[in-house]
Amino acid sequence: MDKHLLQKLPKIELHRHIEGAFHPETLFHIAMKNQLDFPSNFHEFKNTLQFPKDSKPDFALFLSKFYNKWYNSLDDVYTVVYNSFVHLDNNENLFYSEIRFNPFHFAIHQGFDPVETLKVFLMAARSAIRATKQNTKLLMTINRGFYPEDKYIEVFQQFMKHVDLLDVVGIDLAGDEVNFPPEHFTKFFNLIQSYGYPCTIHAGEVTSAGQIWTAIDQLHAKRIGHGVKVIEDSQLLHYVKEKGIAFEMCPISNYQTGAYIDTKTHPIKSLLEQGVKVTLNSDDPTVQNTTLVDDYIACVDQMGMNLENLHTLNTNAINASFLTNKEKTQLYNQFNMQWNKTIY
Ligand code: ADE
Ligand code: ZN
Repeated sequence: MDKHLLQKLPKIELHRHIEGAFHPETLFHIAMKNQLDFPSNFHEFKNTLQFPKDSKPDFALFLSKFYNKWYNSLDDVYTVVYNSFVHLDNNENLFYSEIRFNPFHFAIHQGFDPVETLKVFLMAARSAIRATKQNTKLLMTINRGFYPEDKYIEVFQQFMKHVDLLDVVGIDLAGDEVNFPPEHFTKFFNLIQSYGYPCTIHAGEVTSAGQIWTAIDQLHAKRIGHGVKVIEDSQLLHYVKEKGIAFEMCPISNYQTGAYIDTKTHPIKSLLEQGVKVTLNSDDPTVQNTTLVDDYIACVDQMGMNLENLHTLNTNAINASFLTNKEKTQLYNQFNMQWNKTIY
């Protein structure tokens, strides 16, 4: 299949971290302005942001790329967030996306107030989304390694009281699943459920299928981030099909983190054929030095997917999105019109 066609296809993406999709030129500007210890040559600087090309797959090294000491002021937060949302679509033709952000990433180093930081984040993201007319909603991420759950419960209650979260359509759990298993966050996700937010949980990425069971049964996950290990547990496969749990898969990320040995044998195609609701996503394009189109190319060139497979991945994403049913129907109709215009 022609790369140009893959690039032009409209795409629904449910799993991309803004902290892994920052605009490199803006980070370079901020790093130089704040006299941070980074190369003063842009090309060398950009290499430091990325998972090293010559590295073996390595989850801890991948996560170490989420550096959070850029910001000397909330103006710096605004600049990075605004420019990264403006440049979100890197010739990928995103038709609808749910972009996740971790408010604590922006606040933790300088000890900014989380409520004030969140307000600045949302102002920047919303202005950029409006300016570029993107169809994008937000997911809030809680990082497993930053704070214990009691602190998250306290701060989330403050967010609910003081911040307008209208376009935040769901909550995510991310970070180091090796050292911080999902059962550490059951109270937090019970609270999230009581507020009526759906959630997506990173699980079974580099650990076992057991974390996927916990994410569904104890954390009320409607979607699983990655979850490649589902392929190893036939009982779980049956269970996720019955419950309609969707999987946000990211083949290139999964290779770099070591979640899966290569993109050729990645389970996304087999799961799709078995009727599991899988979706195709980029995860962290700046860290990976990729775009979402590269994940489409991997699915076609290395796994042998056809246009019908790609269409199903996208309609699965519409169904699994955290939009209302009415919004999903509207999105589905608009998406299909655009898809048909592109392929015929
Ligand atoms: N945060 C950003 N990318 C991630 C990944 N692949 N796994 C867990 N947390 C992440
Ligand atoms: Zn992720």
